[in-house]
Amino acid sequence: MPHEKTYIMLKPDAVKRRLIGEIVSRIEKKGYHITQAKLMTLDKTVIAEHYAHLVDKPFYPKLEAFMTSGPVFGMVVEGENAIAGMRQMMGPTNVFEASPGTIRGDYATNVTENVIHGSDSAENATIEIKRFFG
Ligand code: RTP
Ligand code: MG
Repeated sequence: MPHEKTYIMLKPDAVKRRLIGEIVSRIEKKGYHITQAKLMTLDKTVIAEHYAHLVDKPFYPKLEAFMTSGPVFGMVVEGENAIAGMRQMMGPTNVFEASPGTIRGDYATNVTENVIHGSDSAENATIEIKRFFG
C-alpha cells in the first residue's frame, strides 16, 4: 500500500461541539500521523473552490452558510493508504447510511452538518493540501 497524504477538515459543527480532541485521537490511534494542522475561518470564495462540484446544487446555500459559520480544523494526515483509509473511517456522506463505529456514524445526525471532510482521491488530496496549507 502506498504512503499517502490526505487533507482532513473537521467542520464547524465538530469545532463548536468540542470534538477536535476526540476525533484527532481516533485518527492517531488508527496509526496515521498528523503532520500539519491549523484552525481557520473560511470565506465564501474558498468554499466555492473547495465544493466547486456542488455550487449548482439546491443545497449549496445551506452548505456555504454552514461551512462559513465558524472555524474549521484543517489537517494533513499521512500514512499507508491514508486517502481511502480516512474515507472509510469517516463513513458515507449520508449520515443515515453511516454505521456506528465510523466518525459520521458516531457523531452526526444531519446530512449537511456531518463533522468531517476528507479528500476523495490522490489528485484532490494534492489540490486541497495546496489550497489550505500553501
Ligand atoms: P466532503 O467533501 O465534505 O468530505 O463530503 P463527501 O465527499 O462525503 O460528499 P460531497 O458529495 O463532496 O459533499 C460535500 C458536503 O456537502 C454536504 N451535502 N449536503 N443533499 C445534501 O443536502 C447534501 N449533500 C452533500 C455535506 O456536508 C457533504 O459532506
Ligand atoms: Mg467530497
